[in-house]
Amino acid sequence: MKERLEALRTEALKELEDVQNPQQLNDLRVKYLGKKGALTEILRGMGGLSAEERPVIGQVGNEVRAAIETVIEEKQAVFLQAETEGRLRAETIDVSLPGKQLPAGAVHPLNKVAQEIEDVFIGMGYTIAEGPEVETDFYNFEALNLPKDHPARDMQDSFYITDEILMRTHTSPVQIRTMKAMNGQTPVKVICPGKVYRRDDDDATHSFQFNQIEGLVIGPDIRMSDLKGTLLQFAQEMFGKQTQIRLRPSFFPFTEPSAEVDVTCAQCGGHGCRMCKQTGWLEILGCGMVHPRVLEMGGYDPNEVSGFAFGMGVERIALLKYEIDDIRHFYTNDLRFLSQFVRM
Ligand code: DAH
Repeated sequence: MKERLEALRTEALKELEDVQNPQQLNDLRVKYLGKKGALTEILRGMGGLSAEERPVIGQVGNEVRAAIETVIEEKQAVFLQAETEGRLRAETIDVSLPGKQLPAGAVHPLNKVAQEIEDVFIGMGYTIAEGPEVETDFYNFEALNLPKDHPARDMQDSFYITDEILMRTHTSPVQIRTMKAMNGQTPVKVICPGKVYRRDDDDATHSFQFNQIEGLVIGPDIRMSDLKGTLLQFAQEMFGKQTQIRLRPSFFPFTEPSAEVDVTCAQCGGHGCRMCKQTGWLEILGCGMVHPRVLEMGGYDPNEVSGFAFGMGVERIALLKYEIDDIRHFYTNDLRFLSQFVRM
């Protein structure tokens, strides 16, 4: 029995020498030391030994087991180390590689310009008023003194939902809504930003939907000079301190007198260039003193108060400020265009 045990040791150690992987190692453990393994098998025969032989054989059995176990543990340690090293090698981080670019979003140029405009007026003490984009004929036209035969009231020019309801064609109806909400109180000092809709064919300067910002100021003694000073302040904050403005007589049904406002061309400083068509001036908005009839419609007595109003297109201001030649760029969302505004 002793010989069988010794032979088992020799065989096991020899086989263990050639072991290639942890799976083989485990198989050998089971084969030699397992419950149904070779060693157990031999030792099972100990029952037939004499009382003197038993401890001797028992000891040999223990030595053989210990010898095999020792080699298995050594091999196991080697496999474990190899595995750890392999994993570390696979997980090596090359800190010199360029990092992944995480594209950062940015505020859309139109929203940016709208916010800038709003900030200028908020800085002058204005608050922001909003109104619905689906508007009634009364607020969009009637209360603004737009006569029934005004071309804007034509089905051809506006998006009608019913005979009396349409997509607002300008932000001016918010003037009336604000006046009514103020219930005859003064001062009124608001700007009204928002989307407006017209039945235009889209091209470089027209869109069926665009953005306007309306301004309205009403008080006991509001004058044209207040309007002019306000717009000069706005123009200089928006286009630069050196900017000048000029008011040209114009006509809007809701203001009297009415004017169109130009700013000196920032591109050429007013000398004349392609941008300003050699005039030195760029038109930026329409304005005027609120028509007495409009004040009345809004619930004010034109003998007690006066006011001024103005309305500008956000797209137009953005085109001029960033020298963009086509408003369609604002809506097609081409990242090559939009990403130019990321850090502006
Ligand atoms: N509502 C006008 C438009 O859409 C713009 C405008 C002009 C608004 C003069 C005003 C104003 O408040 O006084 O073209």
